[in-house]
Amino acid sequence: SKDRPKDAPKGGSTTTSTFLAACRGEKVDHVPVWFMRQAGRSLPEYRKLREGVPMLESCTRPEMVVEITMQPVRRYGVDAAIFYSDIVVPLKAIGVDLDIVPGTGPVVAKPIRTVKDVEPQLRELTPADVPYVTESVRGLVSELGTTPLIGFAGAPFTLASYLIEGGPSRDHRLTKELMYRDPATWDALLGRLATIAATFLRVQVKAGAKAVQLFDSWAGSLSREDYVKYVKPYAKRVLDAVADLDVPRIHFGVGTGELLGEMGDAGADVVGVDWRVSLSDALARVGSGRSVQGNLDPTVLFAPDEVMRAKATAVLDAGRKARGHVFNLGHGVLPATDPDALKRLVDHVHAYEVR
Ligand code: CP3
Repeated sequence: SKDRPKDAPKGGSTTTSTFLAACRGEKVDHVPVWFMRQAGRSLPEYRKLREGVPMLESCTRPEMVVEITMQPVRRYGVDAAIFYSDIVVPLKAIGVDLDIVPGTGPVVAKPIRTVKDVEPQLRELTPADVPYVTESVRGLVSELGTTPLIGFAGAPFTLASYLIEGGPSRDHRLTKELMYRDPATWDALLGRLATIAATFLRVQVKAGAKAVQLFDSWAGSLSREDYVKYVKPYAKRVLDAVADLDVPRIHFGVGTGELLGEMGDAGADVVGVDWRVSLSDALARVGSGRSVQGNLDPTVLFAPDEVMRAKATAVLDAGRKARGHVFNLGHGVLPATDPDALKRLVDHVHAYEVR
């Protein structure tokens, strides 16, 4: 608001959230900023806390979840917190045999390949399966004050890719093979993943999350035609299933330059943009009815300070034409990133004159 003292921290300390305003396309007095993977290995305080605790176990310990989520909020004064969890947490919670291997990512013991694998492995998720999520979000909301918490889930295609491939994949060959070959299994699998993702989001919002982000990280591996036919309907189901909760819905993927219009059309209020497409091109594709989030290349944090500032300013300048702009990186913070560089970036974004 305009009577906020000039030296007041910009983060989330205002009474109405700048982040939520930008998501809704309302007027803001500064450009809000947060970072995907702002919590995690780039922070020494995170590495210390996580010592000896496996990733997925850490997600079930509310005290740890609250502390890890808060770490970047305290350090950087970002305008939003992102819930510390993982896209595979709801799958683990319904009993899928999987683990997160450091340096690799999610690894699934018995990959899903036929329709007979779907039902026994993937039952519906209920809120009672993830009591630690509800407890963690409640704890966070009271700790965060007016800084909004973003809840999230993995989108059906990205979750399916891990379940079918058994782990990370470069070409998603097995996933697409099943998609083309076996429409009934595909529908059973993505339909079930859509309801799981929707429940996971609803649990977080009911516990106090103020926005949600649907991560379809690997959707960029698809042509637009295939995205529309095989993937968009299931992402839409997830986004539609939380529409009544009245929180902004962010929809993000990597390498999705050609899909941005469709990803917005799936039911997003905000479309996340990676760095491979310029924000001005992204605006043209997303249209004027939605806000955008992004899109500085995460490796720019390793550039000299003046280069970083110039590139961030270019993103901010392009964002002026958006209905609303949430500053972010084009994908997650790289583990080797210097936290001081991220702090300088937050200060630079907050100092940018919006009027
Ligand atoms: O600040 C945050 O963003 C924290 C919450 C968060 C994590 N994972 C924590 C995490 C979020 C939003 C995710 C989502 C996620 N997980 C996605 C979608 C986002 C994206 O990156 O596109 C995906 C694809 C995953 C699957 C996954 N989990 C990967 C690829 C990895 C990295 C593996 C590695 O070691 O490089 C994980 C593990 C993971 N999830 C870590 C964190 C902080 C690292 C775990 C560690 O500390 O060892």
